[in-house]
Amino acid sequence: LTPLSPGSTIGILGGGQLGRMLAIAAAQLGLRCHVYCPDASSPAFEVAAKYTVAPYENTAALDAFAKDCDVVTCEFENVPAATLARVSTQCVVRPSAHSFAICQDRRAEKELAVKLGIDSAAWRDVPTLAELDTALGELAVPSILKSRHLGYDGKGQARLDSMSSTSRAWAAIGNAPSILEALVPFAREVSVIAVRDAGGNFAAYDVTENIHKGGILHTSRVPASIAAETAQSAVDIALRIGNALGHVGVFAVEMFVIEEGGAERLLVNEIAPRVHNTGHWTIEGCVASQFEAHIRAVAGWPLPDTARIADAEMTNLIGADAEAWAAIAAEPGAALHLYGKTEARSGRKMGHVTRLRMYSKPV
Ligand SMILES: Nc1ncnc2c1ncn2[C@@H]1O[C@H](COP(=O)(O)OP(=O)(O)O)[C@@H](O)[C@H]1O
Ligand SMILES: [Mg+2]
Repeated sequence: LTPLSPGSTIGILGGGQLGRMLAIAAAQLGLRCHVYCPDASSPAFEVAAKYTVAPYENTAALDAFAKDCDVVTCEFENVPAATLARVSTQCVVRPSAHSFAICQDRRAEKELAVKLGIDSAAWRDVPTLAELDTALGELAVPSILKSRHLGYDGKGQARLDSMSSTSRAWAAIGNAPSILEALVPFAREVSVIAVRDAGGNFAAYDVTENIHKGGILHTSRVPASIAAETAQSAVDIALRIGNALGHVGVFAVEMFVIEEGGAERLLVNEIAPRVHNTGHWTIEGCVASQFEAHIRAVAGWPLPDTARIADAEMTNLIGADAEAWAAIAAEPGAALHLYGKTEARSGRKMGHVTRLRMYSKPV
Protein backbone atom coordinates (compact mmCIF):
# COMPACT_ATOMS: atom_id res chain seq x y z
CA LEU A 1 0.00 0.00 0.00
CA THR A 2 1.49 3.34 -1.06
CA PRO A 3 0.80 6.15 1.41
CA LEU A 4 -2.85 7.17 1.25
CA SER A 5 -3.25 10.71 -0.05
CA PRO A 6 -4.98 13.33 2.03
CA GLY A 7 -8.70 13.03 1.33
CA SER A 8 -8.58 9.21 1.47
CA THR A 9 -11.02 7.37 3.71
CA ILE A 10 -10.06 5.30 6.73
CA GLY A 11 -12.74 2.92 7.96
CA ILE A 12 -12.99 2.34 11.69
CA LEU A 13 -14.85 -0.67 13.10
CA GLY A 14 -16.16 0.41 16.49
CA GLY A 15 -17.52 3.78 17.53
CA GLY A 16 -16.38 4.36 21.10
CA GLN A 17 -14.12 7.07 22.48
CA LEU A 18 -11.04 5.47 20.94
CA GLY A 19 -12.67 5.72 17.51
CA ARG A 20 -13.62 9.30 18.29
CA MET A 21 -10.04 10.28 19.10
CA LEU A 22 -8.74 8.36 16.06
CA ALA A 23 -11.17 10.26 13.81
CA ILE A 24 -10.07 13.60 15.27
CA ALA A 25 -6.40 12.71 14.66
CA ALA A 26 -7.17 11.60 11.10
CA ALA A 27 -8.98 14.86 10.38
CA GLN A 28 -5.88 16.78 11.45
CA LEU A 29 -3.97 14.98 8.68
CA GLY A 30 -6.65 15.67 6.08
CA LEU A 31 -7.88 12.07 6.12
CA ARG A 32 -11.56 11.21 6.33
CA CYS A 33 -13.04 8.55 8.59
CA HIS A 34 -16.00 6.27 8.05
CA VAL A 35 -17.04 4.77 11.39
CA TYR A 36 -19.02 1.51 11.54
CA CYS A 37 -20.82 0.63 14.75
CA PRO A 38 -24.11 -1.05 15.69
CA ASP A 39 -24.80 1.53 18.41
CA ALA A 40 -26.70 4.56 17.07
CA SER A 41 -25.33 6.82 19.81
CA SER A 42 -21.65 6.07 19.18
CA PRO A 43 -19.25 8.79 20.44
CA ALA A 44 -17.19 8.56 17.23
CA PHE A 45 -20.08 9.31 14.85
CA GLU A 46 -20.29 13.00 15.62
CA VAL A 47 -16.66 13.66 14.64
CA ALA A 48 -16.48 11.37 11.59
CA ALA A 49 -17.00 12.32 7.95
CA LYS A 50 -19.34 9.35 7.53
CA TYR A 51 -20.86 6.61 9.62
CA THR A 52 -22.81 3.39 9.30
CA VAL A 53 -25.13 2.03 11.99
CA ALA A 54 -25.43 -1.71 11.43
CA PRO A 55 -24.72 -4.98 13.21
CA TYR A 56 -21.28 -6.55 12.76
CA GLU A 57 -23.03 -9.51 11.13
CA ASN A 58 -24.71 -7.46 8.37
CA THR A 59 -22.70 -8.52 5.32
CA ALA A 60 -24.39 -6.08 2.93
CA ALA A 61 -23.58 -3.15 5.22
CA LEU A 62 -20.03 -4.43 5.71
CA ASP A 63 -19.54 -4.73 1.95
CA ALA A 64 -20.77 -1.19 1.34
CA PHE A 65 -18.52 0.06 4.14
CA ALA A 66 -15.46 -1.77 2.80
CA LYS A 67 -16.12 -0.41 -0.68
CA ASP A 68 -16.16 3.14 0.63
CA CYS A 69 -12.83 2.81 2.50
CA ASP A 70 -9.19 2.86 1.38
CA VAL A 71 -8.08 0.99 4.50
CA VAL A 72 -10.02 -0.36 7.48
CA THR A 73 -8.90 -0.45 11.10
CA CYS A 74 -10.52 -1.24 14.47
CA GLU A 75 -10.84 0.64 17.72
CA PHE A 76 -11.66 -2.38 19.92
CA GLU A 77 -10.20 -5.88 20.02
CA ASN A 78 -13.39 -7.90 20.13
CA VAL A 79 -14.44 -7.33 16.55
CA PRO A 80 -15.97 -10.66 15.48
CA ALA A 81 -13.56 -12.74 13.39
CA ALA A 82 -16.22 -13.20 10.69
CA THR A 83 -16.58 -9.41 10.39
CA LEU A 84 -12.84 -8.97 9.90
CA ALA A 85 -12.75 -11.83 7.42
CA ARG A 86 -15.59 -10.34 5.38
CA VAL A 87 -14.10 -6.83 5.28
CA SER A 88 -10.63 -8.25 4.52
CA THR A 89 -11.89 -9.77 1.25
CA GLN A 90 -12.64 -6.28 -0.07
CA CYS A 91 -10.31 -3.87 1.64
CA VAL A 92 -6.93 -3.86 3.37
CA VAL A 93 -7.46 -4.31 7.12
CA ARG A 94 -4.77 -3.03 9.46
CA PRO A 95 -3.85 -4.51 11.85
CA SER A 96 -4.62 -7.90 10.33
CA ALA A 97 -6.99 -10.51 11.75
CA HIS A 98 -3.97 -12.31 13.25
CA SER A 99 -3.33 -9.56 15.82
CA PHE A 100 -6.97 -9.74 16.86
CA ALA A 101 -7.05 -13.54 17.02
CA ILE A 102 -4.18 -13.50 19.53
CA CYS A 103 -5.26 -10.49 21.58
CA GLN A 104 -8.92 -11.59 21.84
CA ASP A 105 -7.81 -14.68 23.71
CA ARG A 106 -5.90 -14.55 26.99
CA ARG A 107 -4.60 -18.07 26.50
CA ALA A 108 -3.23 -17.23 23.07
CA GLU A 109 -1.51 -14.17 24.58
CA LYS A 110 0.06 -16.33 27.26
CA GLU A 111 1.18 -18.89 24.67
CA LEU A 112 2.76 -16.13 22.60
CA ALA A 113 4.68 -14.92 25.65
CA VAL A 114 5.88 -18.46 26.32
CA LYS A 115 6.96 -18.86 22.68
CA LEU A 116 8.91 -15.59 22.83
CA GLY A 117 10.48 -16.41 26.20
CA ILE A 118 8.78 -13.40 27.81
CA ASP A 119 7.79 -13.78 31.46
CA SER A 120 4.21 -13.49 32.65
CA ALA A 121 2.34 -14.54 35.79
CA ALA A 122 2.16 -18.32 36.34
CA TRP A 123 -1.01 -19.63 34.70
CA ARG A 124 -3.03 -22.72 33.88
CA ASP A 125 -5.54 -23.38 31.13
CA VAL A 126 -9.03 -23.90 32.60
CA PRO A 127 -11.35 -25.16 29.83
CA THR A 128 -14.05 -26.37 32.24
CA LEU A 129 -14.97 -26.13 35.91
CA ALA A 130 -13.51 -29.63 36.48
CA GLU A 131 -10.01 -28.34 35.65
CA LEU A 132 -10.32 -25.39 38.00
CA ASP A 133 -9.75 -27.38 41.19
CA THR A 134 -6.61 -28.99 39.75
CA ALA A 135 -5.31 -25.63 38.53
CA LEU A 136 -6.01 -24.00 41.88
CA GLY A 137 -4.06 -26.74 43.60
CA GLU A 138 -1.08 -26.25 41.29
CA LEU A 139 -0.87 -22.46 41.45
CA ALA A 140 -0.04 -20.70 44.66
CA VAL A 141 -3.20 -19.07 46.00
CA PRO A 142 -4.39 -16.35 45.80
CA SER A 143 -5.07 -16.38 42.10
CA ILE A 144 -7.39 -14.85 39.52
CA LEU A 145 -9.72 -16.68 37.19
CA LYS A 146 -10.01 -14.79 33.90
CA SER A 147 -12.31 -15.65 31.03
CA ARG A 148 -10.28 -16.19 27.86
CA HIS A 149 -12.55 -13.98 25.79
CA LEU A 150 -14.39 -10.64 26.07
CA GLY A 151 -13.06 -9.37 29.43
CA TYR A 152 -12.33 -5.66 29.92
CA ASP A 153 -12.08 -3.16 32.80
CA GLY A 154 -11.74 -6.05 35.26
CA LYS A 155 -14.91 -7.75 33.97
CA GLY A 156 -14.82 -11.51 33.44
CA GLN A 157 -12.46 -11.98 36.39
CA ALA A 158 -12.81 -13.56 39.82
CA ARG A 159 -10.24 -13.72 42.62
CA LEU A 160 -9.77 -17.02 44.38
CA ASP A 161 -8.11 -17.97 47.63
CA SER A 162 -8.06 -21.24 49.56
CA MET A 163 -11.51 -20.48 51.04
CA SER A 164 -13.20 -19.66 47.74
CA SER A 165 -15.84 -21.76 46.07
CA THR A 166 -14.60 -22.70 42.60
CA SER A 167 -18.12 -23.19 41.25
CA ARG A 168 -19.06 -19.69 42.39
CA ALA A 169 -15.97 -18.21 40.68
CA TRP A 170 -16.72 -20.20 37.55
CA ALA A 171 -20.29 -18.83 37.50
CA ALA A 172 -19.03 -15.30 38.21
CA ILE A 173 -16.90 -15.26 35.07
CA GLY A 174 -19.78 -16.61 32.99
CA ASN A 175 -19.05 -20.38 32.82
CA ALA A 176 -16.66 -19.80 29.96
CA PRO A 177 -13.24 -21.20 28.99
CA SER A 178 -10.74 -19.42 31.18
CA ILE A 179 -7.25 -19.25 32.49
CA LEU A 180 -6.22 -19.23 36.12
CA GLU A 181 -3.42 -16.82 36.90
CA ALA A 182 -1.35 -16.38 40.05
CA LEU A 183 -1.91 -13.04 41.77
CA VAL A 184 1.21 -10.94 41.23
CA PRO A 185 2.50 -8.91 44.18
CA PHE A 186 3.55 -6.12 41.84
CA ALA A 187 5.32 -2.94 42.93
CA ARG A 188 3.69 -1.06 40.06
CA GLU A 189 1.97 -1.48 36.73
CA VAL A 190 3.36 -0.02 33.52
CA SER A 191 2.50 -0.11 29.84
CA VAL A 192 4.25 0.45 26.57
CA ILE A 193 2.35 2.14 23.77
CA ALA A 194 4.12 1.27 20.54
CA VAL A 195 3.52 1.57 16.84
CA ARG A 196 4.70 -0.60 13.98
CA ASP A 197 4.25 -0.05 10.26
CA ALA A 198 3.90 -2.52 7.39
CA GLY A 199 7.63 -2.27 6.70
CA GLY A 200 8.46 -3.34 10.26
CA ASN A 201 9.53 0.12 11.44
CA PHE A 202 8.86 0.53 15.13
CA ALA A 203 8.54 3.38 17.59
CA ALA A 204 7.46 3.51 21.23
CA TYR A 205 6.33 6.19 23.63
CA ASP A 206 7.90 6.64 27.04
CA VAL A 207 6.82 3.88 29.43
CA THR A 208 3.67 4.83 31.34
CA GLU A 209 2.94 4.01 34.98
CA ASN A 210 -0.67 3.02 35.65
CA ILE A 211 -2.91 2.81 38.68
CA HIS A 212 -6.05 0.67 38.44
CA LYS A 213 -8.93 0.87 40.88
CA GLY A 214 -11.43 -1.99 40.96
CA GLY A 215 -9.95 -3.36 37.74
CA ILE A 216 -10.46 -0.07 35.85
CA LEU A 217 -7.66 2.28 34.88
CA HIS A 218 -7.69 5.30 37.16
CA THR A 219 -4.44 7.19 36.46
CA SER A 220 -1.56 7.01 33.99
CA ARG A 221 1.62 8.93 34.65
CA VAL A 222 4.86 9.72 32.83
CA PRO A 223 7.68 9.43 33.47
CA ALA A 224 7.21 6.06 35.20
CA SER A 225 9.23 5.54 38.37
CA ILE A 226 11.26 2.64 37.02
CA ALA A 227 14.95 2.26 36.20
CA ALA A 228 16.11 3.22 32.72
CA GLU A 229 17.14 -0.41 32.03
CA THR A 230 13.67 -1.63 33.03
CA ALA A 231 12.09 0.87 30.65
CA GLN A 232 14.42 -0.32 27.89
CA SER A 233 13.46 -3.95 28.57
CA ALA A 234 9.78 -3.01 28.47
CA VAL A 235 10.18 -1.41 25.05
CA ASP A 236 12.20 -4.39 23.85
CA ILE A 237 9.40 -6.75 24.94
CA ALA A 238 6.90 -4.64 22.98
CA LEU A 239 9.15 -4.73 19.91
CA ARG A 240 9.37 -8.53 20.02
CA ILE A 241 5.60 -8.87 20.46
CA GLY A 242 4.90 -6.41 17.63
CA ASN A 243 7.20 -8.33 15.30
CA ALA A 244 5.74 -11.70 16.28
CA LEU A 245 2.23 -10.44 15.53
CA GLY A 246 3.33 -8.74 12.32
CA HIS A 247 1.26 -5.94 13.76
CA VAL A 248 0.50 -2.79 11.77
CA GLY A 249 -0.68 0.13 13.86
CA VAL A 250 -0.55 1.05 17.53
CA PHE A 251 -0.62 -1.63 20.20
CA ALA A 252 -0.19 -1.63 23.95
CA VAL A 253 1.54 -4.07 26.26
CA GLU A 254 0.50 -3.97 29.92
CA MET A 255 3.12 -5.21 32.36
CA PHE A 256 3.63 -5.77 36.07
CA VAL A 257 6.87 -4.60 37.67
CA ILE A 258 7.99 -6.78 40.55
CA GLU A 259 10.86 -5.93 42.84
CA GLU A 260 13.20 -8.78 43.70
CA GLY A 261 16.27 -8.19 45.82
CA GLY A 262 16.45 -4.53 44.81
CA ALA A 263 16.10 -5.33 41.09
CA GLU A 264 13.04 -4.82 38.89
CA ARG A 265 11.55 -7.60 36.79
CA LEU A 266 8.77 -7.36 34.20
CA LEU A 267 5.83 -9.72 33.70
CA VAL A 268 3.60 -9.21 30.68
CA ASN A 269 -0.08 -8.96 31.62
CA GLU A 270 -2.08 -8.13 28.49
CA ILE A 271 -1.64 -7.08 24.88
CA ALA A 272 -4.12 -4.70 23.24
CA PRO A 273 -3.99 -4.57 19.40
CA ARG A 274 -5.13 -0.95 19.35
CA VAL A 275 -4.78 2.51 20.82
CA HIS A 276 -5.04 2.30 24.58
CA ASN A 277 -6.41 4.22 27.56
CA THR A 278 -2.92 4.38 29.10
CA GLY A 279 -1.74 6.31 26.03
CA HIS A 280 -4.22 9.18 26.21
CA TRP A 281 -1.58 11.44 27.75
CA THR A 282 0.27 11.38 24.41
CA ILE A 283 -2.32 13.79 22.95
CA GLU A 284 -0.82 16.74 24.81
CA GLY A 285 2.36 15.13 26.15
CA CYS A 286 4.02 14.27 22.82
CA VAL A 287 4.91 15.68 19.44
CA ALA A 288 2.31 13.32 17.94
CA SER A 289 -0.32 11.31 19.82
CA GLN A 290 -0.92 7.54 19.79
CA PHE A 291 -4.01 8.27 17.69
CA GLU A 292 -1.99 10.08 15.03
CA ALA A 293 0.61 7.31 15.19
CA HIS A 294 -2.06 4.69 14.50
CA ILE A 295 -3.62 6.64 11.65
CA ARG A 296 -0.19 7.17 10.08
CA ALA A 297 0.74 3.49 10.36
CA VAL A 298 -2.49 2.21 8.82
CA ALA A 299 -2.38 4.89 6.10
CA GLY A 300 1.18 3.93 5.18
CA TRP A 301 2.59 7.29 6.23
CA PRO A 302 5.95 7.70 7.95
CA LEU A 303 5.73 6.91 11.66
CA PRO A 304 5.60 10.06 13.77
CA ASP A 305 8.05 11.39 16.30
CA THR A 306 6.95 9.77 19.57
CA ALA A 307 9.11 12.06 21.74
CA ARG A 308 7.57 13.26 24.97
CA ILE A 309 7.51 17.02 25.54
CA ALA A 310 5.97 17.25 29.01
CA ASP A 311 5.41 15.28 32.20
CA ALA A 312 1.81 14.22 32.32
CA GLU A 313 -0.79 12.57 34.47
CA MET A 314 -4.00 11.33 32.89
CA THR A 315 -7.03 10.63 35.06
CA ASN A 316 -10.13 8.91 33.73
CA LEU A 317 -13.47 10.58 34.35
CA ILE A 318 -15.65 7.61 35.18
CA GLY A 319 -19.40 7.85 35.70
CA ALA A 320 -20.24 10.86 37.87
CA ASP A 321 -16.58 12.11 37.83
CA ALA A 322 -17.40 13.96 34.62
CA GLU A 323 -19.83 16.22 36.50
CA ALA A 324 -16.73 18.15 37.62
CA TRP A 325 -16.09 19.23 34.01
CA ALA A 326 -16.51 22.95 34.66
CA ALA A 327 -13.98 22.99 37.51
CA ILE A 328 -11.50 20.94 35.44
CA ALA A 329 -12.00 23.23 32.46
CA ALA A 330 -10.97 26.16 34.68
CA GLU A 331 -7.83 24.45 35.94
CA PRO A 332 -4.45 25.70 34.63
CA GLY A 333 -2.40 22.98 32.95
CA ALA A 334 -5.38 20.64 32.62
CA ALA A 335 -6.52 19.32 29.24
CA LEU A 336 -10.12 18.16 29.45
CA HIS A 337 -11.60 15.54 27.11
CA LEU A 338 -15.27 14.59 27.15
CA TYR A 339 -16.50 11.80 24.92
CA GLY A 340 -20.01 13.11 24.26
CA LYS A 341 -21.71 10.19 26.02
CA THR A 342 -25.13 11.20 27.22
CA GLU A 343 -25.74 8.51 29.79
CA ALA A 344 -23.29 8.42 32.76
CA ARG A 345 -23.67 4.80 33.88
CA SER A 346 -21.46 3.84 36.81
CA GLY A 347 -18.10 2.49 35.64
CA ARG A 348 -18.54 4.09 32.21
CA LYS A 349 -15.62 6.09 30.84
CA MET A 350 -17.10 9.56 30.18
CA GLY A 351 -13.90 11.48 29.52
CA HIS A 352 -10.41 12.07 30.86
CA VAL A 353 -8.18 14.90 31.98
CA THR A 354 -4.46 15.16 31.33
CA ARG A 355 -2.54 17.42 33.68
CA LEU A 356 0.77 18.66 32.32
CA ARG A 357 3.91 19.75 34.12
CA MET A 358 7.31 20.84 32.92
CA TYR A 359 9.24 18.02 31.23
CA SER A 360 11.63 16.03 33.40
CA LYS A 361 14.03 13.34 32.19
CA PRO A 362 13.09 9.75 33.04
CA VAL A 363 15.07 8.51 36.07
N1 LIG B 1 -2.32 -11.72 38.00
C1 LIG B 1 -2.62 -10.54 38.55
N2 LIG B 1 -2.04 -10.14 39.70
C2 LIG B 1 -2.34 -8.95 40.27
N3 LIG B 1 -3.21 -8.07 39.74
C3 LIG B 1 -3.82 -8.39 38.58
C4 LIG B 1 -3.55 -9.64 37.93
N4 LIG B 1 -4.30 -9.68 36.81
C5 LIG B 1 -4.99 -8.52 36.77
N5 LIG B 1 -4.72 -7.74 37.84
C6 LIG B 1 -5.28 -6.40 38.12
O1 LIG B 1 -6.51 -6.21 37.43
C7 LIG B 1 -6.35 -5.25 36.37
C8 LIG B 1 -7.19 -5.65 35.17
O2 LIG B 1 -6.79 -6.93 34.72
P1 LIG B 1 -6.41 -7.24 33.21
O3 LIG B 1 -5.94 -8.63 33.14
O4 LIG B 1 -5.50 -6.19 32.69
O5 LIG B 1 -7.83 -7.22 32.48
P2 LIG B 1 -8.65 -6.06 31.75
O6 LIG B 1 -7.78 -4.83 31.70
O7 LIG B 1 -8.91 -6.64 30.41
O8 LIG B 1 -9.87 -5.92 32.55
C9 LIG B 1 -4.87 -5.20 36.11
O9 LIG B 1 -4.47 -3.99 35.51
C10 LIG B 1 -4.33 -5.36 37.53
O10 LIG B 1 -4.44 -4.16 38.28
MG1 LIG C 1 -5.78 -4.63 31.32
